[in-house]
Amino acid sequence: MMRYERLAVWAKAEWERAQGDRVFQLLWASESCGNQLAQYRVKPRRKLKSKAYYTGVEQLPCDEVISISEYVVPGRKAMLGETVGAFLFSFEHPDGDFDVLYVSSYYRDDDPNIVAIALVPPEHLDAWVNFESLCNEAVRRPSRRQDVYIIGGTNAYFKPTVDWDEVILPAYIKDDLHSDMEAFFKDGVAIYQELNLAPFRKLLLVGPPGTGKTMLCAAMAKLALRKKRVVVYVSGADDDGASFHKIHHALNVVANAGYPVLLIVEEIDVYLRKDDKARILNVLDGLESPNNPRGALLLATTNYPEVIDERIAKRPGRMDRILVIPPIQDEYLAKQMLEHYMGPQWQDDHEIAVPQLVGQTGAFVREIALHARMLAAHNRQRTVDLQTLMQSIGSLSNQMNTGEDLMPRRRIGFGSSGGNGFGEVVELDGEPQVVEGDLADE
Ligand SMILES: Nc1ncnc2c1ncn2[C@@H]1O[C@H](COP(=O)(O)OP(=O)(O)O)[C@@H](O)[C@H]1O
Ligand SMILES: [Mg+2]
Repeated sequence: MMRYERLAVWAKAEWERAQGDRVFQLLWASESCGNQLAQYRVKPRRKLKSKAYYTGVEQLPCDEVISISEYVVPGRKAMLGETVGAFLFSFEHPDGDFDVLYVSSYYRDDDPNIVAIALVPPEHLDAWVNFESLCNEAVRRPSRRQDVYIIGGTNAYFKPTVDWDEVILPAYIKDDLHSDMEAFFKDGVAIYQELNLAPFRKLLLVGPPGTGKTMLCAAMAKLALRKKRVVVYVSGADDDGASFHKIHHALNVVANAGYPVLLIVEEIDVYLRKDDKARILNVLDGLESPNNPRGALLLATTNYPEVIDERIAKRPGRMDRILVIPPIQDEYLAKQMLEHYMGPQWQDDHEIAVPQLVGQTGAFVREIALHARMLAAHNRQRTVDLQTLMQSIGSLSNQMNTGEDLMPRRRIGFGSSGGNGFGEVVELDGEPQVVEGDLADE
């Protein structure tokens, strides 16, 4: 038997036990009604359509479903959120009180989608539909206080605490990105609407690991928050993987935020490699784009430009802009980066090391600065001298070269001609991950 059939059989028996032969209508129901957040936000005594009042909810024991909740952090403290299980919702009505029996469950073990059914007295359908939509709203609409919405992710970690000035990149890249966001929210949204398009703009940051893409997202988020926009964050690299469920959830939040939204999707390539890729392409193509009347700006990141080649660049409109975030391009930026990460330990003769940092990433410079300071401390030196700094650069470069032999290599580049400004071979970030092929165009 299908999952929903089992739920329906249980629910019918339970209804007959409690309600006798009272007539009911069996309906598909919204998963939001089981959500603890909805149950918290939609208060008893809430007036509904057709003279009904919601009076409360009670959880029922049910052999068919083990009640499981996920938690959410809507404000400062964690709360239970999406919950599967059996519930009895009670309502008052001048013609007589009534109940709705509701059961929800995960569809399958490997499928995070929820099936939910409700048994509703047919004459109270209106009130129930009204109640359901209140629950939907309660779950999807970020409360006023909720500025940053992190979707999924047992290890989701995102703090929009980076200042714009801390990101060291060529000024034209930063200006470009910043003015794109401001122009979109200021004038762009109205233009999209005039053209009858959902105001959804899509920017992609591409570049090798460690060049500051995540940092740039955090800095953009901080700017957005200052302008009272909502930030929604999803990462394809979370422990809980990259199911479309997360994107779907994020898009719901975006569409219903009631505020302009900056939607950050990190490591978007992960989604493009899975079975769900067709759906994410639909989102980019506009078929499943969120329609937030205040505007939504997607800021996506990827380390793999070939994803762009295959899936995105060949199809105009999938991304509105692609910005390459390169490693350190010149000595001016290299010096700025080194000075920044050496902090108070910076000395003028450190400048001699600067040429060696061109072509490296910000993450590399941060590491060598840290390493140099630790070496100095270990050797009981009060300052980091040039020799220690050079030693640190040497040993980290060596380590990276050795690592190259241990890790899978991937060629990158826009097309076969290369010349993309960030070298030919990119090492994978962190542990060696084997990236599946299957990058054929959709
Ligand atoms: N352009 C940069 N400016 C300043 N710091 C940087 C830059 N790029 C990288 N870093 C440092 O390296 C760390 C890792 O960078 P990150 O933004 O995670 O790279 P990416 O997302 O591109 O892989 C940052 O937290 C920061 O400390
Ligand atoms: Mg990153």
